[in-house]
Amino acid sequence: MATSRILVLKKHMSSKAASTMIKNVTVIGGGLMGSGIAQVAAQTGHQVVLCEVSDQALQKSRSSIQTSLQRVAKKQFKDKPAEAEKFVNDSLARLNTSLNVEESVKSADLIIEAIVENLEAKHKLFSNLDAVAPSHTIFASNTSSLSIEEIASVTKRQDRFGGLHFFNPVPVMKLLEVVRIPQTSDDTYHRMMAWGAAMGKTTITCKDTPGFVVNRLLVPNLAEAVRMLERGDATARDIDTAMKLGASHPMGPFELADYVGNDTTKFILDGWHKRFPDVELFKPIPLLTKMVEEGKLGIKSGEGFYKYNK
Ligand code: CAA
Ligand code: NAD
Repeated sequence: MATSRILVLKKHMSSKAASTMIKNVTVIGGGLMGSGIAQVAAQTGHQVVLCEVSDQALQKSRSSIQTSLQRVAKKQFKDKPAEAEKFVNDSLARLNTSLNVEESVKSADLIIEAIVENLEAKHKLFSNLDAVAPSHTIFASNTSSLSIEEIASVTKRQDRFGGLHFFNPVPVMKLLEVVRIPQTSDDTYHRMMAWGAAMGKTTITCKDTPGFVVNRLLVPNLAEAVRMLERGDATARDIDTAMKLGASHPMGPFELADYVGNDTTKFILDGWHKRFPDVELFKPIPLLTKMVEEGKLGIKSGEGFYKYNK
Protein backbone atom coordinates (compact mmCIF):
# COMPACT_ATOMS: atom_id res chain seq x y z
CA MET A 1 0.00 0.00 0.00
CA ALA A 2 1.36 3.46 -0.88
CA THR A 3 2.81 5.36 2.12
CA SER A 4 0.45 8.30 1.62
CA ARG A 5 -2.55 5.96 1.78
CA ILE A 6 -1.32 4.36 5.02
CA LEU A 7 -0.96 7.87 6.48
CA VAL A 8 -4.52 8.77 5.49
CA LEU A 9 -5.83 5.54 7.00
CA LYS A 10 -3.86 6.10 10.24
CA LYS A 11 -4.94 9.72 10.54
CA HIS A 12 -8.60 8.85 10.15
CA MET A 13 -8.42 5.64 12.14
CA SER A 14 -6.85 7.27 15.17
CA SER A 15 -10.29 8.66 16.00
CA LYS A 16 -13.10 6.60 17.50
CA ALA A 17 -13.99 5.75 13.89
CA ALA A 18 -11.35 3.02 13.86
CA SER A 19 -13.48 0.77 16.03
CA THR A 20 -16.32 0.81 13.52
CA MET A 21 -14.71 0.31 10.15
CA ILE A 22 -16.84 0.00 7.05
CA LYS A 23 -16.98 -3.64 5.93
CA ASN A 24 -20.39 -4.06 4.29
CA VAL A 25 -21.20 -1.75 1.42
CA THR A 26 -24.44 -1.43 -0.55
CA VAL A 27 -24.40 0.40 -3.87
CA ILE A 28 -27.76 1.52 -5.25
CA GLY A 29 -27.73 1.93 -9.03
CA GLY A 30 -25.46 -0.28 -11.13
CA GLY A 31 -24.90 1.93 -14.18
CA LEU A 32 -21.60 3.39 -15.29
CA MET A 33 -20.60 4.60 -11.82
CA GLY A 34 -22.40 2.20 -9.47
CA SER A 35 -20.90 -0.86 -11.14
CA GLY A 36 -17.41 0.67 -10.91
CA ILE A 37 -17.86 1.54 -7.22
CA ALA A 38 -19.22 -1.94 -6.43
CA GLN A 39 -16.33 -3.54 -8.31
CA VAL A 40 -13.60 -1.59 -6.51
CA ALA A 41 -15.27 -2.16 -3.13
CA ALA A 42 -15.33 -5.93 -3.82
CA GLN A 43 -11.77 -6.05 -5.11
CA THR A 44 -10.54 -4.24 -1.98
CA GLY A 45 -12.08 -6.84 0.34
CA HIS A 46 -15.50 -5.40 1.20
CA GLN A 47 -18.72 -7.41 1.17
CA VAL A 48 -20.85 -5.71 -1.46
CA VAL A 49 -24.49 -5.72 -2.48
CA LEU A 50 -25.35 -3.99 -5.75
CA CYS A 51 -29.02 -3.04 -6.06
CA GLU A 52 -30.76 -2.28 -9.36
CA VAL A 53 -34.27 -1.92 -10.74
CA SER A 54 -34.34 -4.79 -13.23
CA ASP A 55 -32.72 -8.11 -14.04
CA GLN A 56 -31.63 -6.71 -17.35
CA ALA A 57 -29.81 -3.81 -15.65
CA LEU A 58 -28.15 -6.21 -13.21
CA GLN A 59 -26.98 -8.43 -16.04
CA LYS A 60 -25.39 -5.42 -17.74
CA SER A 61 -23.67 -4.41 -14.47
CA ARG A 62 -22.35 -7.93 -13.87
CA SER A 63 -20.98 -8.19 -17.36
CA SER A 64 -19.21 -4.82 -17.22
CA ILE A 65 -17.78 -5.63 -13.77
CA GLN A 66 -16.44 -8.96 -15.00
CA THR A 67 -14.77 -7.37 -18.05
CA SER A 68 -13.29 -4.58 -15.97
CA LEU A 69 -12.02 -6.96 -13.25
CA GLN A 70 -10.24 -8.93 -15.96
CA ARG A 71 -8.60 -5.74 -17.25
CA VAL A 72 -7.45 -4.83 -13.72
CA ALA A 73 -6.19 -8.39 -13.11
CA LYS A 74 -4.27 -8.40 -16.40
CA LYS A 75 -2.50 -5.23 -15.36
CA GLN A 76 -1.88 -6.15 -11.68
CA PHE A 77 -0.83 -9.78 -12.23
CA LYS A 78 0.89 -9.54 -15.61
CA ASP A 79 2.77 -12.85 -15.70
CA LYS A 80 0.77 -14.64 -12.99
CA PRO A 81 -2.42 -15.99 -14.61
CA ALA A 82 -3.37 -18.12 -11.59
CA GLU A 83 -3.21 -15.09 -9.27
CA ALA A 84 -5.13 -13.01 -11.80
CA GLU A 85 -7.88 -15.64 -11.92
CA LYS A 86 -8.01 -15.84 -8.12
CA PHE A 87 -8.29 -12.04 -7.88
CA VAL A 88 -11.26 -12.02 -10.28
CA ASN A 89 -13.00 -14.97 -8.61
CA ASP A 90 -12.46 -13.69 -5.04
CA SER A 91 -13.75 -10.25 -6.01
CA LEU A 92 -16.84 -11.70 -7.68
CA ALA A 93 -17.49 -13.92 -4.65
CA ARG A 94 -17.73 -10.80 -2.45
CA LEU A 95 -20.25 -9.19 -4.80
CA ASN A 96 -23.96 -9.93 -4.42
CA THR A 97 -26.77 -8.38 -6.40
CA SER A 98 -30.34 -7.57 -5.50
CA LEU A 99 -33.55 -6.09 -6.85
CA ASN A 100 -34.94 -5.50 -3.35
CA VAL A 101 -33.82 -2.29 -1.64
CA GLU A 102 -34.91 -3.38 1.84
CA GLU A 103 -33.05 -6.70 1.61
CA SER A 104 -29.95 -5.12 0.08
CA VAL A 105 -29.31 -2.69 2.97
CA LYS A 106 -29.95 -5.03 5.93
CA SER A 107 -26.28 -5.36 6.91
CA ALA A 108 -24.89 -2.20 5.30
CA ASP A 109 -22.33 -0.06 7.13
CA LEU A 110 -22.35 2.28 4.16
CA ILE A 111 -24.86 2.88 1.36
CA ILE A 112 -23.69 4.70 -1.76
CA GLU A 113 -26.35 6.00 -4.09
CA ALA A 114 -25.43 6.16 -7.80
CA ILE A 115 -28.81 6.51 -9.53
CA VAL A 116 -29.84 9.11 -12.10
CA GLU A 117 -28.82 12.75 -11.47
CA ASN A 118 -32.27 13.91 -10.43
CA LEU A 119 -33.12 15.40 -7.03
CA GLU A 120 -36.65 14.03 -6.93
CA ALA A 121 -35.49 10.48 -7.67
CA LYS A 122 -32.74 10.74 -5.05
CA HIS A 123 -35.19 12.13 -2.45
CA LYS A 124 -37.61 9.28 -3.05
CA LEU A 125 -34.82 6.73 -2.66
CA PHE A 126 -33.23 8.23 0.47
CA SER A 127 -36.49 8.70 2.37
CA ASN A 128 -37.23 5.03 1.74
CA LEU A 129 -33.67 4.02 2.74
CA ASP A 130 -33.92 6.05 5.95
CA ALA A 131 -36.92 3.98 6.99
CA VAL A 132 -35.37 0.57 6.24
CA ALA A 133 -31.59 0.84 6.83
CA PRO A 134 -29.98 0.08 10.22
CA SER A 135 -29.45 3.17 12.37
CA HIS A 136 -25.63 2.98 12.25
CA THR A 137 -25.54 2.98 8.42
CA ILE A 138 -23.82 5.92 6.74
CA PHE A 139 -25.57 7.32 3.65
CA ALA A 140 -23.60 8.81 0.79
CA SER A 141 -24.45 10.15 -2.64
CA ASN A 142 -22.16 9.98 -5.67
CA THR A 143 -23.95 12.97 -7.21
CA SER A 144 -21.92 15.00 -9.70
CA SER A 145 -23.58 18.32 -9.09
CA LEU A 146 -26.55 18.30 -6.71
CA SER A 147 -26.33 19.69 -3.20
CA ILE A 148 -25.60 16.95 -0.65
CA GLU A 149 -27.40 18.95 2.05
CA GLU A 150 -30.51 19.15 -0.13
CA ILE A 151 -30.39 15.40 -0.87
CA ALA A 152 -29.89 14.63 2.86
CA SER A 153 -32.76 16.90 3.91
CA VAL A 154 -35.35 14.12 3.53
CA THR A 155 -33.58 11.89 6.08
CA LYS A 156 -33.35 11.95 9.86
CA ARG A 157 -29.66 10.99 9.79
CA GLN A 158 -27.93 14.07 8.45
CA ASP A 159 -25.04 13.50 10.88
CA ARG A 160 -24.45 10.20 9.08
CA PHE A 161 -24.66 11.67 5.59
CA GLY A 162 -22.02 12.90 3.13
CA GLY A 163 -20.90 12.93 -0.46
CA LEU A 164 -18.55 10.32 -1.91
CA HIS A 165 -17.82 11.47 -5.43
CA PHE A 166 -15.94 9.00 -7.61
CA PHE A 167 -14.64 9.49 -11.14
CA ASN A 168 -15.21 7.56 -14.31
CA PRO A 169 -13.77 4.94 -14.90
CA VAL A 170 -13.83 4.18 -11.16
CA PRO A 171 -11.32 1.28 -11.29
CA VAL A 172 -8.74 3.59 -12.90
CA MET A 173 -9.31 7.13 -11.58
CA LYS A 174 -7.42 7.65 -8.33
CA LEU A 175 -9.40 10.52 -6.78
CA LEU A 176 -12.31 10.45 -4.33
CA GLU A 177 -13.94 13.72 -3.29
CA VAL A 178 -15.32 13.43 0.25
CA VAL A 179 -18.02 16.02 0.81
CA ARG A 180 -18.96 17.22 4.29
CA ILE A 181 -22.15 19.08 4.99
CA PRO A 182 -22.38 21.14 8.20
CA GLN A 183 -24.39 18.34 9.83
CA THR A 184 -21.88 15.55 8.98
CA SER A 185 -20.41 14.31 12.28
CA ASP A 186 -16.64 14.01 12.77
CA ASP A 187 -17.10 10.27 13.19
CA THR A 188 -18.88 9.94 9.82
CA TYR A 189 -16.31 12.14 8.10
CA HIS A 190 -13.35 10.13 9.49
CA ARG A 191 -15.00 6.85 8.54
CA MET A 192 -15.63 8.07 4.98
CA MET A 193 -12.02 9.26 4.65
CA ALA A 194 -10.63 5.97 6.02
CA TRP A 195 -12.91 4.00 3.71
CA GLY A 196 -11.76 6.03 0.70
CA ALA A 197 -8.16 5.11 1.52
CA ALA A 198 -9.16 1.46 1.99
CA MET A 199 -10.68 1.63 -1.52
CA GLY A 200 -7.21 2.61 -2.78
CA LYS A 201 -8.23 6.18 -3.58
CA THR A 202 -6.58 9.48 -2.76
CA THR A 203 -9.16 11.51 -0.88
CA ILE A 204 -9.71 15.24 -0.79
CA THR A 205 -12.18 17.07 1.44
CA CYS A 206 -14.74 19.32 -0.24
CA LYS A 207 -17.45 21.66 0.88
CA ASP A 208 -20.94 21.16 -0.50
CA THR A 209 -20.42 23.66 -3.33
CA PRO A 210 -21.78 23.12 -6.89
CA GLY A 211 -19.63 20.50 -8.63
CA PHE A 212 -17.32 20.29 -5.58
CA VAL A 213 -13.79 20.75 -7.00
CA VAL A 214 -13.34 18.72 -10.19
CA ASN A 215 -16.72 19.21 -11.87
CA ARG A 216 -16.83 22.94 -11.10
CA LEU A 217 -13.76 23.21 -13.33
CA LEU A 218 -14.37 20.33 -15.75
CA VAL A 219 -18.06 20.70 -16.71
CA PRO A 220 -17.81 24.38 -17.79
CA ASN A 221 -14.83 23.27 -19.91
CA LEU A 222 -16.97 20.64 -21.66
CA ALA A 223 -19.78 23.18 -22.05
CA GLU A 224 -17.45 25.74 -23.63
CA ALA A 225 -16.20 23.11 -26.08
CA VAL A 226 -19.80 22.35 -27.16
CA ARG A 227 -20.44 26.08 -27.59
CA MET A 228 -17.29 26.33 -29.78
CA LEU A 229 -18.58 23.50 -31.96
CA GLU A 230 -22.02 25.11 -32.11
CA ARG A 231 -20.48 28.40 -33.31
CA GLY A 232 -18.51 26.49 -35.95
CA ASP A 233 -15.14 27.64 -34.58
CA ALA A 234 -13.60 24.21 -35.23
CA THR A 235 -14.63 20.56 -35.66
CA ALA A 236 -15.09 18.22 -32.68
CA ARG A 237 -12.12 16.17 -33.87
CA ASP A 238 -9.86 19.25 -34.11
CA ILE A 239 -10.94 20.58 -30.70
CA ASP A 240 -10.20 17.14 -29.20
CA THR A 241 -6.81 16.99 -30.93
CA ALA A 242 -6.05 20.50 -29.69
CA MET A 243 -6.73 19.69 -26.05
CA LYS A 244 -4.86 16.38 -26.16
CA LEU A 245 -1.77 17.69 -27.92
CA GLY A 246 -1.86 21.30 -26.76
CA ALA A 247 -2.85 20.79 -23.13
CA SER A 248 -1.90 17.12 -22.58
CA HIS A 249 -5.42 16.10 -21.58
CA PRO A 250 -5.84 12.30 -21.83
CA MET A 251 -9.10 12.77 -23.75
CA GLY A 252 -10.45 15.71 -25.72
CA PRO A 253 -13.64 17.40 -24.41
CA PHE A 254 -15.93 15.58 -26.90
CA GLU A 255 -14.38 12.18 -26.22
CA LEU A 256 -14.83 12.90 -22.51
CA ALA A 257 -18.41 14.16 -22.91
CA ASP A 258 -19.29 10.94 -24.75
CA TYR A 259 -17.52 8.95 -22.02
CA VAL A 260 -19.35 10.70 -19.15
CA GLY A 261 -22.73 10.67 -20.97
CA ASN A 262 -24.27 13.74 -22.61
CA ASP A 263 -27.44 13.28 -20.54
CA THR A 264 -25.39 13.47 -17.32
CA THR A 265 -23.59 16.62 -18.49
CA LYS A 266 -26.93 18.18 -19.43
CA PHE A 267 -28.50 17.22 -16.05
CA ILE A 268 -25.55 18.89 -14.32
CA LEU A 269 -25.77 22.12 -16.33
CA ASP A 270 -29.58 22.29 -16.07
CA GLY A 271 -29.43 21.86 -12.29
CA TRP A 272 -26.87 24.63 -11.91
CA HIS A 273 -28.72 26.92 -14.32
CA LYS A 274 -31.87 26.52 -12.23
CA ARG A 275 -29.98 27.51 -9.08
CA PHE A 276 -27.79 30.22 -10.65
CA PRO A 277 -29.74 31.58 -13.67
CA ASP A 278 -27.36 34.52 -14.20
CA VAL A 279 -24.16 32.50 -14.63
CA GLU A 280 -23.38 32.47 -18.39
CA LEU A 281 -21.32 29.27 -18.18
CA PHE A 282 -24.30 27.27 -16.89
CA LYS A 283 -26.81 28.43 -19.53
CA PRO A 284 -28.49 25.70 -21.67
CA ILE A 285 -26.73 24.80 -24.91
CA PRO A 286 -29.15 24.10 -27.81
CA LEU A 287 -26.76 21.61 -29.48
CA LEU A 288 -26.43 19.56 -26.27
CA THR A 289 -30.20 19.61 -25.72
CA LYS A 290 -30.78 18.42 -29.31
CA MET A 291 -28.29 15.58 -28.94
CA VAL A 292 -29.89 14.34 -25.72
CA GLU A 293 -33.38 14.58 -27.29
CA GLU A 294 -32.11 12.47 -30.20
CA GLY A 295 -30.72 9.86 -27.79
CA LYS A 296 -27.11 10.68 -28.70
CA LEU A 297 -25.89 10.14 -25.16
CA GLY A 298 -22.35 9.02 -25.97
CA ILE A 299 -20.66 5.63 -25.65
CA LYS A 300 -23.54 4.15 -23.62
CA SER A 301 -26.07 4.71 -26.44
CA GLY A 302 -23.69 3.97 -29.33
CA GLU A 303 -23.55 7.56 -30.58
CA GLY A 304 -22.72 10.97 -29.18
CA PHE A 305 -20.33 13.42 -30.74
CA TYR A 306 -18.77 10.28 -32.28
CA LYS A 307 -20.17 6.89 -33.31
CA TYR A 308 -19.30 3.69 -31.40
CA ASN A 309 -19.68 -0.02 -32.05
CA LYS A 310 -22.29 -1.24 -29.58
N1 CAA B 1 -11.77 -0.86 -16.05
C1 CAA B 1 -10.58 -1.38 -15.75
N2 CAA B 1 -9.43 -0.99 -16.31
C2 CAA B 1 -9.50 -0.02 -17.23
C3 CAA B 1 -10.73 0.59 -17.61
C4 CAA B 1 -11.91 0.13 -16.97
N3 CAA B 1 -13.10 0.62 -17.25
N4 CAA B 1 -10.48 1.55 -18.53
C5 CAA B 1 -9.16 1.55 -18.73
N5 CAA B 1 -8.55 0.62 -17.94
C6 CAA B 1 -7.11 0.35 -17.77
C7 CAA B 1 -6.77 -0.98 -18.39
O1 CAA B 1 -5.68 -1.52 -17.72
C8 CAA B 1 -6.39 -0.57 -19.80
O2 CAA B 1 -5.62 -1.54 -20.41
P1 CAA B 1 -6.36 -2.66 -21.37
O3 CAA B 1 -7.01 -1.88 -22.49
O4 CAA B 1 -5.23 -3.51 -21.83
O5 CAA B 1 -7.35 -3.40 -20.55
C9 CAA B 1 -5.61 0.71 -19.53
O6 CAA B 1 -6.34 1.35 -18.47
C10 CAA B 1 -5.52 1.64 -20.71
O7 CAA B 1 -6.81 1.94 -21.19
P2 CAA B 1 -7.10 2.41 -22.68
O8 CAA B 1 -6.10 1.79 -23.60
O9 CAA B 1 -8.56 2.19 -22.94
O10 CAA B 1 -6.94 3.95 -22.78
P3 CAA B 1 -6.16 5.09 -22.03
O11 CAA B 1 -4.76 4.74 -21.70
O12 CAA B 1 -6.43 6.30 -22.83
O13 CAA B 1 -6.93 5.27 -20.65
C11 CAA B 1 -8.66 6.45 -19.56
C12 CAA B 1 -8.31 5.37 -20.59
C13 CAA B 1 -8.15 6.06 -18.18
C14 CAA B 1 -10.18 6.51 -19.53
C15 CAA B 1 -8.02 7.83 -19.98
O14 CAA B 1 -8.34 8.12 -21.33
C16 CAA B 1 -8.45 8.97 -19.11
O15 CAA B 1 -7.93 9.20 -18.03
N6 CAA B 1 -9.45 9.76 -19.58
C17 CAA B 1 -10.02 10.87 -18.82
C18 CAA B 1 -11.06 10.34 -17.86
C19 CAA B 1 -11.65 11.42 -17.00
O16 CAA B 1 -11.36 12.60 -17.12
N7 CAA B 1 -12.56 11.00 -16.10
C20 CAA B 1 -13.28 11.90 -15.27
C21 CAA B 1 -14.63 12.16 -15.90
S1 CAA B 1 -15.57 13.33 -14.98
C22 CAA B 1 -16.26 12.43 -13.76
O17 CAA B 1 -16.12 11.24 -13.67
C23 CAA B 1 -17.03 13.19 -12.75
C24 CAA B 1 -18.46 13.42 -13.01
O18 CAA B 1 -19.17 13.60 -12.02
C25 CAA B 1 -19.06 13.56 -14.37
P1 NAD C 1 -26.27 5.61 -15.34
O1 NAD C 1 -27.45 6.13 -16.10
O2 NAD C 1 -25.20 4.90 -16.08
O3 NAD C 1 -26.77 4.59 -14.18
C1 NAD C 1 -27.82 4.85 -13.30
C2 NAD C 1 -28.39 3.50 -12.89
O4 NAD C 1 -29.25 3.65 -11.77
C3 NAD C 1 -29.22 2.81 -14.00
O5 NAD C 1 -28.66 1.55 -14.27
C4 NAD C 1 -30.63 2.71 -13.39
O6 NAD C 1 -31.29 1.51 -13.75
C5 NAD C 1 -30.31 2.73 -11.90
N1 NAD C 1 -31.40 3.22 -11.06
C6 NAD C 1 -32.21 4.26 -11.27
N2 NAD C 1 -33.08 4.39 -10.23
C7 NAD C 1 -32.80 3.39 -9.35
C8 NAD C 1 -33.33 2.99 -8.09
N3 NAD C 1 -34.31 3.66 -7.52
N4 NAD C 1 -32.78 1.91 -7.48
C9 NAD C 1 -31.76 1.23 -8.04
N5 NAD C 1 -31.21 1.58 -9.24
C10 NAD C 1 -31.72 2.65 -9.88
O7 NAD C 1 -25.70 6.85 -14.52
P2 NAD C 1 -24.20 7.10 -13.99
O8 NAD C 1 -23.43 7.77 -15.04
O9 NAD C 1 -23.70 5.85 -13.35
O10 NAD C 1 -24.49 8.20 -12.85
C11 NAD C 1 -24.99 7.85 -11.59
C12 NAD C 1 -24.74 8.99 -10.62
O11 NAD C 1 -23.32 9.21 -10.53
C13 NAD C 1 -25.36 10.33 -11.02
O12 NAD C 1 -25.72 11.03 -9.86
C14 NAD C 1 -24.20 11.02 -11.73
O13 NAD C 1 -24.31 12.41 -11.73
C15 NAD C 1 -23.02 10.55 -10.88
N6 NAD C 1 -21.70 10.55 -11.55
C16 NAD C 1 -21.62 10.26 -12.90
C17 NAD C 1 -20.35 10.24 -13.50
C18 NAD C 1 -20.18 9.91 -14.96
O14 NAD C 1 -19.08 10.10 -15.51
N7 NAD C 1 -21.19 9.40 -15.65
C19 NAD C 1 -19.21 10.50 -12.73
C20 NAD C 1 -19.34 10.76 -11.35
C21 NAD C 1 -20.61 10.80 -10.78
